[in-house]
Amino acid sequence: MTVRNLTVLGSTGSIGRATLEVISKHPRRFVIRALAAFSNVDLLVEQYHAFRPQYLCLVDREKSLELKNRLRDEPVEILAGETDLVRLASLDGVDMVVNAVVGAAGMLASLETVRKGRALALANKESLVCGGPLFAPLMKTTGAKILPVDSEHSAIWQALACGRENEIRRIIITGSGGPFRRLPLDKFDEITVEQALSHPTWKMGPKITIDSATLVNKGLEVIEAAILFSMPLEKIRVVIHPQSIVHSMVEFIDSSVIAQMSRPDMRLPITYALFWPERIESDFGTLDLGRLAELTFEEPDFKKFRALPIAFDVARIGGTAPAAYNAANEIAVGAFLEGGLKFSQITEIIEKVLSDFNVVSEPNLDDILSADKNARQRARKLVEKLPCC
Ligand SMILES: NC(=O)c1ccc[n+]([C@@H]2O[C@H](COP(=O)([O-])OP(=O)(O)OC[C@H]3O[C@@H](n4cnc5c(N)ncnc54)[C@H](OP(=O)(O)O)[C@@H]3O)[C@@H](O)[C@H]2O)c1
Repeated sequence: MTVRNLTVLGSTGSIGRATLEVISKHPRRFVIRALAAFSNVDLLVEQYHAFRPQYLCLVDREKSLELKNRLRDEPVEILAGETDLVRLASLDGVDMVVNAVVGAAGMLASLETVRKGRALALANKESLVCGGPLFAPLMKTTGAKILPVDSEHSAIWQALACGRENEIRRIIITGSGGPFRRLPLDKFDEITVEQALSHPTWKMGPKITIDSATLVNKGLEVIEAAILFSMPLEKIRVVIHPQSIVHSMVEFIDSSVIAQMSRPDMRLPITYALFWPERIESDFGTLDLGRLAELTFEEPDFKKFRALPIAFDVARIGGTAPAAYNAANEIAVGAFLEGGLKFSQITEIIEKVLSDFNVVSEPNLDDILSADKNARQRARKLVEKLPCC
């Protein structure tokens, strides 16, 4: 029986908490060496007592002082800031890093994990979206594996096992379509934060929930899939599947389509990544096919959800374009959640930022970081200028 030493980054978020729940059911299979989050002191203290890691890190420095104070009598090292978050990805003796940080803030830790040749269980899709051009050569040199946690990519990964590389015709990424699939475009300006945060099938953190409503999330997943599976964009298709039961599919050259299905529960792809290459019994509920009324599929509406075709475009352009797409979206989503932007303006900001963005086609890390910074600055200015609600 292998025991895995783990670091969990973003442990206080939706995926981080689900990961620790899975781990708590298998205490003899995992040792938690480090946990990290942004500022949630209370939950990190709770997680410390449950898992007794050697290291804790909060990126927010003031909060990390508070954490230090709360755990002053405990045998734990408290780290702080972005550099320490990255350090946790390269601790000696860690076999696997689960990256469940939200946003581009997770990219450097993912790069460090791969640089060290460790297994990376990746929920933080923004890592691959922004740092795509840097990951492939690093993985070749170090032999590090990226194990997808995103349900769609986990499904594709599982379905790909049914054939050889030269037998793949295309991958088909499914998406629920979000809460506004049937809402006419002229009503998009009236969408409230509360409505956008109410996803029909998944319970997730706020940023990815808004991304799912704009279909930016599907766009990020297309870019993620292209990099993760070295798949040309012509071989990637998106279909809307409102029930979120088929998590994605692979079509092979004989026209067979292999789908992976389960209840929409992130604990399943998390378990698959944590235990891979083993499959283990899970008690998260089976799929009762007899009770499912229907499984439906439809084309995405590219006119209503422009963020999706834009993602295909930026993926085609490559270089620093996906990092700019992501950064503009992060700023726009933040502004929308704070009530400073209309829902429809999220995609508008992305389009405007990209419209005169200088793309570096073969970027190094500095190019990617400055593309991220520049796109954020430009998006912030646009948010200030746009007439809002
Ligand atoms: N939720 C899902 O079902 C789901 C499914 C597929 C993929 N994903 C992906 O998984 C990632 C996490 O999503 P989520 O829904 O779990 O997000 P979430 O609930 O918002 O949690 C985000 C986590 O990241 C931490 N964090 C935030 N800003 C940070 C920063 N600047 N530096 C370091 N840590 C930071 C948060 O810490 P605090 O709590 O202290 O703020 C929290 O632990 C995203 O990339 C998302 O796209 C999520």
